[in-house]
Amino acid sequence: MIIGSYLLFFKNLPSTNNHSAILLKNHDLPEGTIVYTNYQSAGRGQTGKRWESEDDKNLLISIVLSPSMINPADQFLISMTVSLGICDFLKRYIPACTIKWPNDIYVNNDKIAGILIENSIMGDQIENTIAGIGLNVNQEKFLSDAPNPISLSMITGKNFDLKTCLNQLASDLDIRYEQLISESFAQIKHEYVSQLYRLNEWCNFRDINGIYTGRILSVTDYGRLQIEKQTGHKSEYSFKEVDFML
Ligand code: BTN
Repeated sequence: MIIGSYLLFFKNLPSTNNHSAILLKNHDLPEGTIVYTNYQSAGRGQTGKRWESEDDKNLLISIVLSPSMINPADQFLISMTVSLGICDFLKRYIPACTIKWPNDIYVNNDKIAGILIENSIMGDQIENTIAGIGLNVNQEKFLSDAPNPISLSMITGKNFDLKTCLNQLASDLDIRYEQLISESFAQIKHEYVSQLYRLNEWCNFRDINGIYTGRILSVTDYGRLQIEKQTGHKSEYSFKEVDFML
């Protein structure tokens, strides 16, 4: 076991990703160390947004990895691997979830988990990765302006033991990380694509030229989203170049 072999708990932190980076600077953390907390005073989401999480209700974790087998150009594999591990965990409790490209975890049209992956690259190698995960477990009310948060308890009507969830999530992520280590890259990509939110569904997207109807075909090895327009024209997008019209 790599992921979760070493757990570091803090009652509260500004951000588990930030704290992991500080720890990494000053200590030799074993690969797979999980830094986790009950509360973040400055939890970070993608594109500079805040991550909302009520005290002691959800999983707030960062995993420290050294994926030296991954070429920096292929770093999207890490996102795919983490997304799949979270979906494996959720399927223990709910029948289905999807991955909204690039790495939001959705149940129907609502977001249950977010991922913030930060890689430090040295030359042609990924020196280390901090994979931050916020997974909504027991929170019932969300106060921020995030459009569509949901939690496991809102879906199931049950309350979950956070430590049990953490151990299960670590184990599911570990199995996926072994898949990455064994270089099953095509399999990881295949499973990721097959679980994409709105895969092959005609729906509306917005890019720099406006709103159009299209359908997701796949992602490239570099993580760009491939969409076919109704006209038959195919486009590829990097993160933030296209929005889903929810
Ligand atoms: C997103 O915006 O979807 C990404 C959210 C990532 C939140 C997690 S919570 C644990 C880790 N520490 C942070 O500060 N952010 C990530």
